Amino acid sequence: MPIIGFPVEIKPGEKRCALLPVNVKAYTLLGAKVVIEKGLGLHLHISDAEYVEAGAEVAVDRQSLLKQANIILALHKLPTKDLRHLSSGSLLVSYLDPFNESAYIQQLVSGNISSISMEMIPRISRCQKMDALSSQASLAGYVMVLQAANTLDAVFPMMMTPAGTLKPAKVFIIGAGVAGLQAIATAKRLGASVTAFDTRTVVAEQVRSLGAKFLDIDLGQTGETGQGYAQALTPEQMQIQQREQAKCIADSDIVITTAQLFGRKPPKLIDQATIASMRAGSVIVDMAAENGGNVEGSVVGQTVEINGVSVIGTGFWANGVALHASQMYASNLFSLISEFWHKDNNEFVLDVSDEVLSGCVISHQGSVVNKMISDFYQQNGVLIKPEPTLQINAQTNTASQEA
Ligand code: NAI
Repeated sequence: MPIIGFPVEIKPGEKRCALLPVNVKAYTLLGAKVVIEKGLGLHLHISDAEYVEAGAEVAVDRQSLLKQANIILALHKLPTKDLRHLSSGSLLVSYLDPFNESAYIQQLVSGNISSISMEMIPRISRCQKMDALSSQASLAGYVMVLQAANTLDAVFPMMMTPAGTLKPAKVFIIGAGVAGLQAIATAKRLGASVTAFDTRTVVAEQVRSLGAKFLDIDLGQTGETGQGYAQALTPEQMQIQQREQAKCIADSDIVITTAQLFGRKPPKLIDQATIASMRAGSVIVDMAAENGGNVEGSVVGQTVEINGVSVIGTGFWANGVALHASQMYASNLFSLISEFWHKDNNEFVLDVSDEVLSGCVISHQGSVVNKMISDFYQQNGVLIKPEPTLQINAQTNTASQEA
């Protein structure tokens, strides 16, 4: 019976995990054995006994868990020192950041570890249930608005009181993807007056349907990639955007930036001069702070004050609602595993010719099998040495994960 292992997340401050007791039964019904590391759900106040009651086993220690598992499911990538304990031919599924972590991918290849990067799940209808970027981004949008509301020195809704009328807070959201749309909905529910902008004008209708205004900026031609991601703007278009959004920013009590470009650094959208134009006491939340930031001067992991404006770059947003974030992430993982589980053979079949797996499997049978990542490495002069004895079979379609 294949063993699916769930190690404790050891990133400092992380409260989320990749399995809730409710998922254990579902994996068991597939035909897998679930083994957890001691304390898996501790930060969510879920005891080991609850997992055991649902049908899981608790490993003696982390090392034995990693050794016996055919499939390891986690949120963050395992620390490098863990990799040597994984069995050759096992499968690791987690966020892997493969564009920036080529040395880590090399280690997976050298150890003949197959890997799936959760960030690389294609953004297509078939994959919505597995799409962790969306589930976590949506919660991030909610958390960012709450953090901004807690920091602002004013209320969100209009209040007409005997002591006078309070105007609603003005919130400007840049980037109306998954996180931005949830931020708009949350800010609207709290009673703010919300405006949003995105370079993908197709989202204008979605913004309006949430009751917010869409800031019209004529940038000329702005494209989308095949997967629906925004294309990078030209320097001239960036200048136009910054000029045209400046007045809206100066007028806003809260600005939330969520602009990202897939596989690239996020665009810098707000400079120090624009921050200085805002009222002291207002708030900016930079969702992208961790990857370089949309806002000049934002600091990852911190809230800093620039000209009296609080610039929040704390990141780790979905961690702020760790229970629901875990519930959604665990469900994304289960959807992925069950989609490719062959009941007859009772195994996860890693078919790299499948349109979903070809997008998100990074290493398999001793080489990098993901075309986007191997092209990216090639363009950037990164050389991944294949695992010598396995490279001949690298294109094999199916792979049992049985040890
Ligand atoms: P993302 O996190 O890559 O980017 C966030 C937003 O920033 C995007 O809406 C993007 O257009 C915007 N942006 C980029 N540069 C900007 C700039 N200079 N100024 C203002 N905004 C800027 O995007 P996310 O939220 O992950 O979604 C990416 C795409 O994938 C979207 O089109 C979304 O609708 C689509 N999607 C499709 C799914 C599906 O299953 N069909 C599931 C989830 C997302």
